[in-house]
Amino acid sequence: MTLVTNARNQPMLSGTFVPVDDERDDHHLRVTGSVPDGLAGTFMRNGPNPMFEPLGRYHMFDGDGMLHAVRFDQGEVSYRNRWIRSAGLEAERRAGRALYGGLGDLHMPGPDEVGDAGPMKNLANTHIVGHAGRYLALWEAGPPTEVTEGLDTIGVHDFGGRLDGAFTAHPKIDPRTGEMLAFAYLPFEPYLRYYQIDAAGTLGRVVDIDLPEAVVMHDFAVTERHVVFVDSPMVLDVMAALHGEPMFRWDPDHVTRVGIMPRDGDTVTWYETEASYINHFWNAWDDGDSVVFAGSRLEGAAYTAGKDGAMDREGADAEPGRPTRVEVDRSSGKVRVEQFDDMGGDFCRINDAYCGVRSRYHYMAGFHGDATIIGHFDTVVAYDDLTGERTTWFCGPTSITGEAVFVPDPAGAAENDGWLLSCVTDRTDDSTDLVILDARDVSAGPIARVHLPRRLPFGFHGNWFPSGV
Ligand SMILES: [Fe+2]
Repeated sequence: MTLVTNARNQPMLSGTFVPVDDERDDHHLRVTGSVPDGLAGTFMRNGPNPMFEPLGRYHMFDGDGMLHAVRFDQGEVSYRNRWIRSAGLEAERRAGRALYGGLGDLHMPGPDEVGDAGPMKNLANTHIVGHAGRYLALWEAGPPTEVTEGLDTIGVHDFGGRLDGAFTAHPKIDPRTGEMLAFAYLPFEPYLRYYQIDAAGTLGRVVDIDLPEAVVMHDFAVTERHVVFVDSPMVLDVMAALHGEPMFRWDPDHVTRVGIMPRDGDTVTWYETEASYINHFWNAWDDGDSVVFAGSRLEGAAYTAGKDGAMDREGADAEPGRPTRVEVDRSSGKVRVEQFDDMGGDFCRINDAYCGVRSRYHYMAGFHGDATIIGHFDTVVAYDDLTGERTTWFCGPTSITGEAVFVPDPAGAAENDGWLLSCVTDRTDDSTDLVILDARDVSAGPIARVHLPRRLPFGFHGNWFPSGV
């Protein structure tokens, strides 16, 4: 079905980034090891998978969203994948070719080319979350796309017309209140917008927040009482992109500020700190007058491919983020930044039942050695924030691991009672396993491997959807 024909001349469409070309359903997958009895539900993962040959230079953020689902049902494991059928992709399917440009070639087609599909394709390629009975595929430059449990596309979800425009790929769902808190960063004023969605899925408050200029804000954090934004030097410049320059640029003159706002408030208090960008947060919590958060922190741009789309460390400024804890003392205004590990990594995850309160266990996809290629993580990492202990599982010199998603053990009570699920691709034989690790002892290695029917291309984020809820 895919008509990508020129992948070898596109650095970001080579190796594990090569898209798959079909939609399939496979049952009775082969499993090595033993799937835990408590693991009943569906693991879903989103990621870019362009259907058509890109118009220009391809960036890994540009691909059409594709969902992969691995379902565990009474001992049987099955697989399904589906493209997200955005209006833009449907217009391209009618034309039989790509009509929209990407980050490297910002072509916005008119109605003569795409009808009423609009000038921008909502790729919906970054994350999949469940809230208020809906499955939402997310992409930070547009509204969510609702899909069914069976991965069929329902369409754009604009909260009954309440949402006008973008919506982060990393909303936070408060496990105590059921609320979903979210935001959008925007290329034009007001630059930042905060959304509060109640447990029933109704978008209530929308708060516009002024920033000095447009910046990239891929993630944020929430505590029981506050929301946390980081206004970083990663500047977003759409006008530059329209002139063929990079859309993201690191501006050393842009002061980094941590913004803290009461969840129900409308005024952000800003605290200056040293130049940094947090790509993903693990979590945040209130500690007396302080707000503490942790995440993967960069001290420079690592987002954009280098000249000619190079993705090696020299060609692209690919220095990975480092695990960092930040404490903002709201009474003194002091911001304390502490990098707690030298290992590079990202895709920060926790047991989501601890979202907003102090979490002890933090999980990451890391680099065992130097990060040579963007996204080629090779290690699943677990941090114990109480003892400072780090445990790791190295997935092997020829393999790449994705994000490790925490799945709680229904029979457990402790924060780390559960499993980590991650897609691990072996570059030597083009195979992917869904690996199951015991979160209590990551270093013991997989307790089970589900052998997927084919390689999964590099992807972004996923989630676990337990059955029967
Ligand atoms: Fe992300």
